[in-house]
Amino acid sequence: MPSSDKKILVVGGAGYIGAHMVRQLARASCDVVILDNLSTGNRKLVQGEAFIQGNLGNSDLLDKLFSRHTFDAVMHFAAFSQVGESMHQPLAYYRNNLAETVALLDAMVRHDVKRFIFSSTAAVYGEPVAIPITEDHPCAPTNPYGNTKLAVERMLADCDAAYGLKFTALRYFNAAGADESAEIGEMHDPETHLIPIVLSAADGRIDHIRVFGTDYPTTDGTCVRDYVHVNDLAQAHLLALDALLEGGDSAVYNLGSSHGYSVRDVISKAEGVTGKRIPVVEAPRRPGDPAVLVASSEKIRRELGWAPAYDNLEKIIRTAWNWHLKQK
Ligand code: UFG
Repeated sequence: MPSSDKKILVVGGAGYIGAHMVRQLARASCDVVILDNLSTGNRKLVQGEAFIQGNLGNSDLLDKLFSRHTFDAVMHFAAFSQVGESMHQPLAYYRNNLAETVALLDAMVRHDVKRFIFSSTAAVYGEPVAIPITEDHPCAPTNPYGNTKLAVERMLADCDAAYGLKFTALRYFNAAGADESAEIGEMHDPETHLIPIVLSAADGRIDHIRVFGTDYPTTDGTCVRDYVHVNDLAQAHLLALDALLEGGDSAVYNLGSSHGYSVRDVISKAEGVTGKRIPVVEAPRRPGDPAVLVASSEKIRRELGWAPAYDNLEKIIRTAWNWHLKQK
């Protein structure tokens, strides 16, 4: 594969998705350097690779890094990603997700590194007007988090036009699961994501799961989401990297499983996987949650041959549970 033996800077490589990416790059024989400030990442998720603790917006640090290493590409996972938090602290999101990315791209341009893979999000679409969501669906984010990600996508298109910087923006739907090794997995603090919370309720670490909203216009009244395994996400990045290394043009792709599961579906499948009863408390809607978010990932399947290995939710939850059990 063209990516083997390439040198890749992984920004945010100590985070949940970044750490899984680093594993896949290592398995593909890439030479990886990680830059992470550990503000939300965790050093425990990184083993063996070159690790630099620092901010991606630190131009002096970036100049040193880009002078010392000749990178074939940069992958950027370092962002704040909580929709609710972004509503209360928009400037923190604009600073971290947008301003710091300006500094990173600036350093890339100064050092003539011209390939970039960006972690974008389904939140760029806002409230969907059509399901499944394709890449040409209108982008109208409903929160600062989505605004910052869309602003970076637009900045990337401008950088391509001006400097020939080629990029792939990957719009993740709901990342879930853990590496089969169960050595790395999801560990946010505080945890806000559904599957880790459901699993904590399954093994009694918390008393119950609160279901945010039971009156949505869906079959069981709870929100429907598209869960995609974190290693399938990482695999898509490898395909995108290969395409850029082969001279491919800039592109934007959705990454989802194309299957929608309601919150109640997730809970009942987690009961099946864990063999435990999961106590549920019905709670009001969480502000900013769209009723249904399901991707069409046809474009990346067709153009890059992406074929997710985790094609059902039980398989995804099983890997998350194996990781969860090790976090005692
Ligand atoms: N939920 C609950 N109870 C909880 C936690 C979540 O009912 O304790 C519900 C939410 O209301 C939502 C669903 O479970 O309906 C999934 O919630 P998550 O917080 O796990 O994920 P989100 O869909 O809100 O957001 C995720 C990422 C975002 C990204 C978005 C894109 O965290 O960064 O997917 O789809 F923008």
